[in-house]
Amino acid sequence: MSTTEYARLFEGLVAPLSAQEFKATAWPAGLHISHEAKPGLAALLAQPELRDIESFCAIGNDGGIHINYTREERFRIELNADPAHAIEQFHAGNTIQILDLKTDEIRRWNRALDAALGLIPGTTLVNAFTSLRGKGIPWHWDSQEVFVVQVRGRKLWHVAPNDYVEWPTLNGMPTPSPSREMAFQLKDPTQPILEPEQWRSVEMLPGSVMYMPRGYWHKVEQNLEESLHLVLQVRLPSWRDLFRFMLDNAPPLYDLDWRRPTSALSPDNLATMAPREFKERLESLERLAGGGALMAMAQQFSSIIDGGGLYKDIAPQMKY
Ligand SMILES: [Fe+2]
Repeated sequence: MSTTEYARLFEGLVAPLSAQEFKATAWPAGLHISHEAKPGLAALLAQPELRDIESFCAIGNDGGIHINYTREERFRIELNADPAHAIEQFHAGNTIQILDLKTDEIRRWNRALDAALGLIPGTTLVNAFTSLRGKGIPWHWDSQEVFVVQVRGRKLWHVAPNDYVEWPTLNGMPTPSPSREMAFQLKDPTQPILEPEQWRSVEMLPGSVMYMPRGYWHKVEQNLEESLHLVLQVRLPSWRDLFRFMLDNAPPLYDLDWRRPTSALSPDNLATMAPREFKERLESLERLAGGGALMAMAQQFSSIIDGGGLYKDIAPQMKY
């Protein structure tokens, strides 16, 4: 497919805006909701793999099947469930989530979003959620930019801007005690994170698309009918992401020279040797990023699946 064709496909998500208009007015920090009829979306919505829970749980994926227990008193997530168990829990009313779906049509959309938004190929992932009628996933925010595409059924969302944090690196939920990693990012780390008190209600119908910036609060207030939606997810990379990735994934940083304990970090040498060696290390990182290595690392980072940190910051008792 050509760049123009990818742009045309992408415009199926943001109509009546053109890709240019969307990028100029909404991307990446503004909410955008589109209920226009979008012929470009037809093939995405009509995929036979999305027609019922059995075919859904059989879709190829690289991110696993996860169960969101929305029908229990306390919300929790069970990671990496097998398909039969997920189908059983779907019929019990819970929400089934599959990360990084692999169908030919979805691969086309992966490429279209990367191309239209000018991202490193492999950045866009497509996830999906399905549930029977009734209560949905509670208030939370995601640490990615997301396009929510309603495929089947009607769903009522509540959405609200986030006053606690900008550009969070973690997904978040209301909690009396934010994790340390979250607290570093909060405007006021001493305050508990509370549910929004005001929100906008959005009813999503088949073909509706909602773009939510990173960190935007959202909740599925009600699945008004049995419902399935896709989430086309992008994580725009930051320098923090890249450095973190480099420390954990660049093989040279596991060399003996980096692993060996150093006397520069002993009390006697902290004021003298340590700053000198620290500078040498920075220079060595700079060399490591040379000759195309920076590009290779950015490419590898962009295709990491972390399931959106998959609610990493929710209270431990809520984890499965
Ligand atoms: Fe979400």
